[in-house]
Amino acid sequence: MSYSEVYESWKANPEQFWMEAAKAISWDSAPTKALTDKGDGLYEWFADAKVNTCYNAVDRHVEQGRGEQTAIIYDSPITQTKREISYVELRNRVATLAGALRAKGVEKGDRVIIYMPMIPEALEAMLACARLGAVHSVVFGGFAANELAVRIDDAKPKAIIAASCGLEPGRTVHYKPLLDGAIDLANHKPDFCVIFQREQEVAELVPGRDVNWHGFQYGVEPAECVPVEGNHPSYILYTSGTTGQPKGVIRHTAGQLVALNWTMKNIYNVDPGDVFWAASDVGWVVGHSYICYGPLIHGNTTIVFEGKPVGTPDAGTFWRVISEHKVKSFFTAPTAFRAVKREDPKGEYVKKYDLSCLKQVYLAGERADPDTITWAQEQLQVPVVDHWWQTETGWSIAANPLGIEELPTKLGSPAVPMPGYDVEILDEGGNPVAAGELGAIAVKLPLPPGTLPTLWNAEERFKKSYLNTFPGYYETGDAGMKDEDGYLYIMARTDDVINVAGHRLSTGAMEEVLAGHPDVAECAVIGVSDSLKGQMPVGFLCLNSGCETAHEDVVSQVVKLVREKIGPVAAFKLACVVDRLPKTRSGKILRGTMVNIADGTPWKMPATIDDPAILDEITTALQGLGYAKQ
Ligand code: COA
Ligand code: AMP
Repeated sequence: MSYSEVYESWKANPEQFWMEAAKAISWDSAPTKALTDKGDGLYEWFADAKVNTCYNAVDRHVEQGRGEQTAIIYDSPITQTKREISYVELRNRVATLAGALRAKGVEKGDRVIIYMPMIPEALEAMLACARLGAVHSVVFGGFAANELAVRIDDAKPKAIIAASCGLEPGRTVHYKPLLDGAIDLANHKPDFCVIFQREQEVAELVPGRDVNWHGFQYGVEPAECVPVEGNHPSYILYTSGTTGQPKGVIRHTAGQLVALNWTMKNIYNVDPGDVFWAASDVGWVVGHSYICYGPLIHGNTTIVFEGKPVGTPDAGTFWRVISEHKVKSFFTAPTAFRAVKREDPKGEYVKKYDLSCLKQVYLAGERADPDTITWAQEQLQVPVVDHWWQTETGWSIAANPLGIEELPTKLGSPAVPMPGYDVEILDEGGNPVAAGELGAIAVKLPLPPGTLPTLWNAEERFKKSYLNTFPGYYETGDAGMKDEDGYLYIMARTDDVINVAGHRLSTGAMEEVLAGHPDVAECAVIGVSDSLKGQMPVGFLCLNSGCETAHEDVVSQVVKLVREKIGPVAAFKLACVVDRLPKTRSGKILRGTMVNIADGTPWKMPATIDDPAILDEITTALQGLGYAKQ
């Protein structure tokens, strides 16, 4: 069937389409019904089924004869380690870990926070939770203690599983002090913490609270897979919104199983047994869906890569891993390719490796600029697919579904909507606009299986953030257009979210930190274009009158403060002091105009601006930081 036939078959009977896809899952009790309409824009998929994620991702492959196949390849150029874990070993390790967690009181429905670097034990911890029906929440290692504390207070975990350290090039990330600091800051206290001691750093355990990963598993009874309801939360993953309080995106068990399994062949074009590699981090949605769950549910081999695209040790790392482990489909962020391209524009490293195993490449996380795609196409000589998705959706809204049909590539477009997504471009009044016209991108409800049903403990926020603006639609927060062929173009966010090196960050959260500095009276953070990271945050500070601290000291203090409060991942390094911020007469800061000035893109004087002269000062300040070039 062609893409259009598949898409139309979904549109003609969505529930039948997903019931058909559900046959690939091993159910304890199969769903009798696909969709439950809970009213008020809320839906659930396969709610009456009984199923276990870990069984589908691990045990069933052993039972079906894949026990000896490698499930996880750990490749760490940072520690110079390589290790393979077969499905049978994975089953045994996960069953024991789950048994140990159970012995300490973790049961179905309990939350467990996982704060770990890119090591196989991070996946094992996720799977052990899934085995028990416990709800995990993985926190990215680049966040500071304060961010971890916010997540502890929201998820209220019974346990936290952490590693002693993470390893960034040239720097050890001391997880344990961050963890201890977060627990001190949080109001909620976990019953216990499990610490995986890495060779590179042995952390001190807190007596009575911390247990050693190995020690606490000694002699325990392995746990069986606990069947859970189809609408049981599989995990909570926090993502940036407009405020400093992150949104707890929930994924339901059955929808995730059905949807991710469907994508592995239809979008990523891999068959069970093939090696699939997503070079991301388990702390992000890409890591949840395509380092851990998707490939394992589908019986693929997945790669846990602890390294960077450049500098570990060079710009050939990606190609070495692909060639050495026979990767068939490779997924990364455009920023990673830009980093490689910058160091190796002519692809000298590409030529050093036999990449005949590689059949296709996928990019997501931020807009893929045409130069990067063209470079990758020329170097790798395989289809390079830009696909668009969000933490909320868990899998791609739009893609080029190579496993169904290779559609023509249009540079700058992540191609066409996937089955399950009826995408419309809407004007401010919620009316669809004509092809080629810009508008807010919205998806007709219900969203497909595997997407968020609501936010953790925040149903009203869910409705306010996603459902209320355009009744009957899910508001993506992205703006863009559709062309005459139905190809989508994702141009910008409609909120205060920016995208730095493929990481989603809230300028609002950074503003909250800046505003906390005693000398700062008012502030704004914008995302300016960056040739490597896509966007970079820049802060503008208005100081209290009579402030005696030198401007450069305030700037360096706020840079430090953001690193301490949000974490290094915010990449907040640039700020300047200005007298006033440009505002509309009603007091709204003109962030969009500031971004245009910074990027040197054409802009019009906003009709509602209070005092146009302020923009001259902003321009001068930006020029001082190397932006706003004429
Ligand atoms: N734990 C702790 N700190 C981390 C971290 C982690 N897991 N990941 C990143 N950081 C730190 C970095 O060390 C860096 O710190 P620094 O300010 O001391 O240098 C900071 O956070 C910013 O990180 P990032 O923006 O990712 O830059 P980088 O220097 O680590 O790498 C590139 C940037 C250019 C190599 C980038 O191309 C890249 O690969 N980014 C990751 C893309 C990605 O996987 N996105 C996920 C969505 S698919
Ligand atoms: P995250 O939730 O971190 O995955 O970030 C999701 C956001 O990243 C989207 O809402 C988009 O703004 C952006 N994004 C992700 N993939 C793409 C893409 N292929 N093209 C353009 N923007 C993208």
